[in-house]
Amino acid sequence: MSTAEKRDFRISNNMIFHLVFSQAGTIAKALGELVMNAQDAGANVFKVTMTNDSFEASDNGHGFRSRQEIENWFEELGFDHSDELHQEDGRFSRFGLGRAQIMAFGSTDWYTNTFCMSVDIKARGISYELKADLPLVAGCTIKGQWYEPLSFTDLSNALREFEELIAFVKIDVEVNGKVVNRKNVKWDFETGTVQVKRRDTGGLQVYNQGVLVKTYPAYQYGSGVVVSKVPFTLNIARNDILHSSCNVWKEVRTLLRADAVEQATRKPRLTEDQRMLLLTQAVAGELTYEEIQSSAIIEDVTRRKWKFEKLFSGPVTVHTEGTRGQADRIQQSKLAFVLSPSMMQDVCVENPEALIEALERIVNRNRPLYPRKINYVPIGQLIAGNNERYTILPEKELTKTERAALGAIKRGMSDLTLAVNLTVHEKRRPARDVFIGESEHAKAWTDGSTYIVVSRKFLADNVRDGFRGFSGIANVLVHELCHDSNTATGHDHGAEFYEAFHDAILGRFSNLVGSGTRTMTAHFLGRAQKEGLKFGRAELRDLDREAEFERELLDETTFVDEVQAVAMAS
Ligand SMILES: Nc1ncnc2c1ncn2[C@@H]1O[C@H](COP(=O)(O)OP(=O)(O)O)[C@@H](O)[C@H]1O
Ligand SMILES: [Mg+2]
Repeated sequence: MSTAEKRDFRISNNMIFHLVFSQAGTIAKALGELVMNAQDAGANVFKVTMTNDSFEASDNGHGFRSRQEIENWFEELGFDHSDELHQEDGRFSRFGLGRAQIMAFGSTDWYTNTFCMSVDIKARGISYELKADLPLVAGCTIKGQWYEPLSFTDLSNALREFEELIAFVKIDVEVNGKVVNRKNVKWDFETGTVQVKRRDTGGLQVYNQGVLVKTYPAYQYGSGVVVSKVPFTLNIARNDILHSSCNVWKEVRTLLRADAVEQATRKPRLTEDQRMLLLTQAVAGELTYEEIQSSAIIEDVTRRKWKFEKLFSGPVTVHTEGTRGQADRIQQSKLAFVLSPSMMQDVCVENPEALIEALERIVNRNRPLYPRKINYVPIGQLIAGNNERYTILPEKELTKTERAALGAIKRGMSDLTLAVNLTVHEKRRPARDVFIGESEHAKAWTDGSTYIVVSRKFLADNVRDGFRGFSGIANVLVHELCHDSNTATGHDHGAEFYEAFHDAILGRFSNLVGSGTRTMTAHFLGRAQKEGLKFGRAELRDLDREAEFERELLDETTFVDEVQAVAMAS
């Protein structure tokens, strides 16, 4: 015959060691518990002084008022909190364990009213010595000796962590004689449960009634500080919120997320965190396509950001193989829009097909009947079909017009070179030689230091368009001048490059781009006339007009001369 009996679990004395030593994270956390106890005891100030060897913490609350209170609430760890005092609203008090944290870091004497409790767990184990009938100490004062002396770094780190931890508690907290907690904060908004201050960067620091619990990454709830007015439900170490059981947090997180999303969607330019916030929320189905469609959250291979609509402007690929240069070229030649490989991590998928699917799901969530499809092409196919050949044409193979254009470009190059070198490369570099060449897609390419090749096709498209045409040519030349590596073997158009190009075109010396263009146009027109190059009638009329304009302008070169003088002198 089998028997069954009901038996209760017990807890071993050993567990008390864990409650002391395994609960405590840091000295700052342990001191934070003392601040919470002080506030619970009705104190309006908590003072702490700290040295490498010792500390003293005191509050002006009611202290432990009787031997009974000490036996009930000091002696017993995890005591029952159902009595009236411990049920009062707004108390931090919850587990009956916080006071033990500091006992892990040193021996302590707790002076309170006419009592003193002395604890030294390392030397005397899990016990304390209780003295009574001592001179009165109002409130509670704890004097401690660290078990391990603190280095100056430890000490300063502990203080810094402590100040951040208790930054928003109600009572005054004085560290070495100075009040450190933040009063008179201007909150961005406030509800019955929380105060919120937004910041531009960093995570979201969540404070439980003024005491820091944890910091959430900015892509979850945005950046800033949130301080609850009512308690969150926390774990024992008070360094996490119990998400499933904490209704306050459920309410607050919805509010924070909505606020972060609203901030992000209002901005034309997102921070990386805001972009991640919108993207992850869209993937999770928390945001509709309509809510995110005007935000630039799609990242291409050059790290530029686009709206979702870009995915429907033509073929789309993901850069998973080939060099960055090849991927870049596929995008430039408009073969396909190339998504950055990091988009896969952003939406937590392993391969391009899954990425495309995830993106389509976002777009189609509210339009199941007429789903839109992204025209996805694996990048391997595109690389195979885009093996660019680059040829430089010898002078004798050039047409008369090309030769005239080349001569004109060479004359304009010194101004363009100066425009780039003065703003971008920060030193004077030798001018690059110019050639004409053949390539299917590239308008021009360079070895990054000694030469630039302009494609025959691109030249032909522009050379007969007077000043306008040469402006296009000049911009491409400036683009190539900004590259300091070989662009025929694969190159980046990363943020750095865009910045360089931006500076060259819009920088202090950008007038030089204009004057270089002018020089090119004037020389080309001059030679065209001299050599009697054939143009169509409309082209001729246009050219005449440009020539007239050029003649007027050629006299006033003062600005350019000035800049050149500066450059020569430096
Ligand atoms: N500075 C203090 N002044 C008065 N009473 C205190 C003080 N510190 C602790 N206590 C009492 O000791 C109890 C135990 O504190 P603690 O271990 O931090 O657990 P909890 O705060 O969760 O109850 C408190 O509930 C409170 O009754
Ligand atoms: Mg406590």
